[in-house]
Amino acid sequence: MKQATVLAVDDTLESLQLLTDILGSEGYRVLPADSGELALESVVHTRPQLILLDLRMPGMDGFEVLRRLKELPGSRDIPVIILSAVTDAEQRVEGLRLGAMDFVSKPFQRDELLARVKTHVELDLARRRLEQQASDLQDTNARLEIEIAERRLAQGDMQRLTIYLQQANESLTRAKAAAEQAHQQLLQSDKMASMGHLAAGVAHELNNPISFVASNLGVLGQYLDDIFAITAAYQNAEDCMTQPCAALDAVFQLKEDKDFDFIQTDARQLVQESQEGLERVTTIVRNIKNFSRTGDTTWTWVDLRAGLESTLNIVWNELKYKCTVTKDYGEAAPVWGAASQLNQVFLNLLVNAAQAIPDRGSIHIATGQRGAEVFVAISDTGQGMDAETLARIFEPFYTTKPVGQGTGLGLSLSHEIIQAHHGRIMVDSVPAQGSTFTLWLPTHPPASETAPA
Ligand SMILES: Nc1ncnc2c1ncn2[C@@H]1O[C@H](COP(=O)(O)OP(=O)(O)O)[C@@H](O)[C@H]1O
Ligand SMILES: [Mg+2]
Repeated sequence: MKQATVLAVDDTLESLQLLTDILGSEGYRVLPADSGELALESVVHTRPQLILLDLRMPGMDGFEVLRRLKELPGSRDIPVIILSAVTDAEQRVEGLRLGAMDFVSKPFQRDELLARVKTHVELDLARRRLEQQASDLQDTNARLEIEIAERRLAQGDMQRLTIYLQQANESLTRAKAAAEQAHQQLLQSDKMASMGHLAAGVAHELNNPISFVASNLGVLGQYLDDIFAITAAYQNAEDCMTQPCAALDAVFQLKEDKDFDFIQTDARQLVQESQEGLERVTTIVRNIKNFSRTGDTTWTWVDLRAGLESTLNIVWNELKYKCTVTKDYGEAAPVWGAASQLNQVFLNLLVNAAQAIPDRGSIHIATGQRGAEVFVAISDTGQGMDAETLARIFEPFYTTKPVGQGTGLGLSLSHEIIQAHHGRIMVDSVPAQGSTFTLWLPTHPPASETAPA
């Protein structure tokens, strides 16, 4: 163990010598001081492990030394053993109160002094070790706190990262949904395109037979008229025949058997019905041709409200007995497009709306503009659609209407047309309440498509 330094303070040199001898013999380094002043000076220069302090000294006495020690930085912890001939208990207590650790009476016994010195030196050492440990602990603590704080920071980072990841995840999900929707749309337009091609082919093939059946029917009707005219002439001839004639009887019989009167009226009706049927086929074929965009169209700047008005004029006969029509024409910039095609779309939507109304109802037409898009909304108070129907309405040939009333081409054709105009059709429908079809069209189509104004 490192040699402990003991400061011995006493005004008698003999005492100092004695202490130096005793302590020196036990391996202590002894700093002698023969006055209080010198003692304090020594403390400042060399911090001793222990102070042996005489109380009664000329000048600065032991009590004063104790008081001053308390005020000296770094020295208040140095253990002090009072070494005094003072036997007065009050003075001893005063010494202890001023910070002394122990008391040894003069004249002292060598062993007792050494034992007390040893104890206090060791105590002081232990105390200082403890202090060191405490301060180490504090350091560790501080380091730990920093570490914890750092970890918390890291945790904060993690939280931010998590939030960021969540956001990234959300936008990925959104992107995926959008991609899926785009894919569905692609599939849909793919389907429609191929259906369109197929239909166009069929329509083309149908054109020929339709035209010759139509012309044949026309001629056939003519022939029937001729034949009936001839049979009527025969009828008159019969009336002037007076001679009984077996052949003529057979004719009468045959006319009766075959119900010739009925044949005359029914044959005409059959031809007429066939002609009407053929007309319907012709309309379907025309629609199909429109659908596959074979019809020629001119693109201009189109005023949607003017288009709606002219279409309303055309369908008015179909609407007027079923519904009232209300209008709310808001400002809508013209769009670049084919007026006849857009009118076709209005027509389809208006006819559908009227057909969806079972008895009587109303149709509301609204126009307006939001940013770079204009809209046309056609609402009806009709029967509405269930989800299943709603999912299929744009499919070519999908119809819920009886044969003769619906071709299932109106909406798919409209969809085609609106897509060609870079727009979209939105549908809102509540079963038994009604539907709203909204067309959105851009006011600025791709620059490459528009002619200079
Ligand atoms: N306004 C509407 N209200 C209710 N159902 C509608 C409406 N418009 C369209 N539909 C439904 O969409 C189907 C397809 O319409 P569309 O393509 O015009 O063919 P079509 O009118 O010849 O049946 C209709 O049969 C009908 O079931
Ligand atoms: Mg329709």
